[in-house]
Amino acid sequence: MHYDLRLLTVEDLPASWEMSRIAFGLDRKPPPGWLSARPGRHTWGAFDGAGRLVAKAMDREQDHWFGGRRVPASGIAGVVVMPDLRGTGLSRLVLARLFAASRDRGAVIATLFRTNPGPYRRLGCEQIGNLTWTALPTASLAEVRRPMEVALRPAEVADVPAILETYRIVARAGAGLMERSGPLFDTSPGAVLAGHDGITVATDSAGSVQGYVSWKRGPGYDASSRLSVPDLIGLSAPATTAMLALLGSWASVAPTVVLRLPDPDPAALLSSFTGARVESDDRWMLRVLDAARAVAARGWPRHVNGSVDLLLADGVCPWNAGPQRLILADGVGRLEPGGRGELHLDIRGLALIYAGIGAPALLRRAGLLGGDSTDGETFLQAAAAGPPPALLDYF
Ligand SMILES: CC(C)(COP(=O)(O)OP(=O)(O)OC[C@H]1O[C@@H](n2cnc3c(N)ncnc32)[C@H](O)[C@@H]1OP(=O)(O)O)[C@@H](O)C(=O)NCCC(=O)NCCS
Repeated sequence: MHYDLRLLTVEDLPASWEMSRIAFGLDRKPPPGWLSARPGRHTWGAFDGAGRLVAKAMDREQDHWFGGRRVPASGIAGVVVMPDLRGTGLSRLVLARLFAASRDRGAVIATLFRTNPGPYRRLGCEQIGNLTWTALPTASLAEVRRPMEVALRPAEVADVPAILETYRIVARAGAGLMERSGPLFDTSPGAVLAGHDGITVATDSAGSVQGYVSWKRGPGYDASSRLSVPDLIGLSAPATTAMLALLGSWASVAPTVVLRLPDPDPAALLSSFTGARVESDDRWMLRVLDAARAVAARGWPRHVNGSVDLLLADGVCPWNAGPQRLILADGVGRLEPGGRGELHLDIRGLALIYAGIGAPALLRRAGLLGGDSTDGETFLQAAAAGPPPALLDYF
């Protein structure tokens, strides 16, 4: 069967919504704006001979922070194949096209939240982290003492740049967190402050913002009542402690607080988190789209200097495959064609190394690394030494 592959136009969007609605059990009516062109989003579709949309996948223009640098990415979302045609290779067809097209527009990695890792693994993606909401008895935070040197107050319009920068400082020092700017993010003060019941900022004695917590009040004040906390980001221990104490003060009217936090996070190191349980856990995956440009785009550990000769296997993005020498010097990486190909690395293994969690012994036991070079493995171990990836934005 031949399928036409092309970008969806506005005329295709009702059919596209219907596919998503059926696949994910959504409302009949799409969210506002969904049926018009949305900047930063490109949806690839496969059409059968009758012109029916039968498979689709969206490429979102977004950046993720790795090693202190913004890495241009394709955020993949809305992958759906018509029920009658699943298992016939359509998602492979659409995603292979999306990989090539997003690479052409400058994306060097792809990220996605998966329902099932199987189809994405077959296309070279690997799971690198979880987006977790943790439910905590609010009373367990009531023991936290608020440091008197920290002031707490409601965020104002003038605080928005500092709020965005607080998040960015943490993202820059970590791995995987999304850059909250660009076409997919509305960073106007109105948009940042809306959507929550409150954003509370924590300031030091000089009045400078050292953290913020955004929170949303659920209904009622009985045993089932809760407070949701999408962001609790502190730059210092006193600021984080003050914000935890603020949450603890809700114990009498919202017995459960539900926090979206990276793991590990200072909040869990500064309080007991007694009774914490995972409320929801969404796994996300990474694919290296363009190995050479991806290696050059991220920052690497500054004290890891050296090289390793790899033989990269990639059946879907052939431009990555073959012998490649990975060279790191002073925090900068290069991947150059050639070398002796001593270590055989699957592209999924490179995704784990890129994310900072690809210990060679793990990759070898998972069948993602072969060949022979003890020095090369020691080098890769140091190159992939973290920090562990985190992501706070679902897409
Ligand atoms: C998930 C979905 C998009 C896969 O699409 P598909 O067209 O059926 O997948 P394909 O036939 O192209 O298969 C691609 C590869 O994944 C493998 N695969 C497909 N489904 C799989 C499964 N459930 N488990 C493991 N591997 C699977 C196939 O064997 C194939 O590998 P191969 O080409 O190397 O043999 C489709 O089943 C679907 O629309 N599901 C409902 C919506 C959904 O879950 N979307 C994903 C949101 S993240």
